[in-house]
Amino acid sequence: MELTEEKGVHQFSLLEGLSQLEKFVGNTPLYPLNRVFQKPGVKIYAKLEWQQFGSSVKTRAAYNIVKDAIFTGKLDRAKTLLDASSGNTGIAYASICSALGISVTLCIPANASIERIRNLKSLGAEVVLTSELESTDGAQNKAKEMYEANPEKYYYADQYGNDNNWKAHYETTGPEIVNQLEQENITHFVAGLGTSGTLRGVGEFLKEYDSEVHLVALQPDSALHAIEGWKDMETAMVPKIFDAKQPDYTLEVSTEQSFAMLKEIAEKEGLLIGPSGAANLAGAINLAKGIDQGVIVTVFPDSADKYSEVYEQLFK
Ligand SMILES: Cc1ncc(COP(=O)(O)O)c(C=O)c1O
Repeated sequence: MELTEEKGVHQFSLLEGLSQLEKFVGNTPLYPLNRVFQKPGVKIYAKLEWQQFGSSVKTRAAYNIVKDAIFTGKLDRAKTLLDASSGNTGIAYASICSALGISVTLCIPANASIERIRNLKSLGAEVVLTSELESTDGAQNKAKEMYEANPEKYYYADQYGNDNNWKAHYETTGPEIVNQLEQENITHFVAGLGTSGTLRGVGEFLKEYDSEVHLVALQPDSALHAIEGWKDMETAMVPKIFDAKQPDYTLEVSTEQSFAMLKEIAEKEGLLIGPSGAANLAGAINLAKGIDQGVIVTVFPDSADKYSEVYEQLFK
């Protein structure tokens, strides 16, 4: 394993590079949503996940995957990290690997927003566009195929099957939530499913912390949804890390509800966020309406930055 090799401007070892980055991963604010929703006895909070290196919730998973691969000798500067992504994990890998001096190749569906593709290319990643009709399933198949054709060249990170994805949330997001709530006790954690890493990791941590905490999975109401980052588990390839028995219950959110909530959050909370965060809040509010007492926590995975098309349509 070569951890000290120098490459261009990266005059430091990969281990030094990792430890420099670590303090900029996670540690996001927990924001009280008390304008968009008010009900005595019930509170809703969201982690503002774009406020970290790489600008989304996926930095936690990507960093942990890269860190483990370097520590176990599977990834160094002689290899190229390869994975499939709907965008955010790709941007996180590209940010981390650009800072470490590691090459990245990403398979992403051709309908990913132009900002995502531009950001990936700006960070030096090689982008392989796959059929938009096959969504991230097609991207995953392409990444597997490329790895099998050239296993010496690539480290295949496989975020959908890599336990270091959900463990990142077990080790960071879950403990941060409990610490940030201080005197309050969380009663529900709500999250939409992409790879399912967020729900699985935070959920496992919270259940160990307090077995009474309810875990609520969110799903799109149709396979043809526009909530970027979410997978419809009934019709898509189910990620290997998804534990179908884990959620206490599952609620549906439509694209229309998500987009209406995007507007409301902008107008009432002053936050410009991505559609999956708005869908998480729509699900949390739905849940909140049906309980008398509770502290509900969710995540806002990313900001409005990569969704200019959605915002132009909503605020024209
Ligand atoms: C914008 C966005 N929201 C939600 C998710 C889902 O998160 P997870 O993969 O942890 O289930 C993702 C995952 O890529 C995402 O990019």
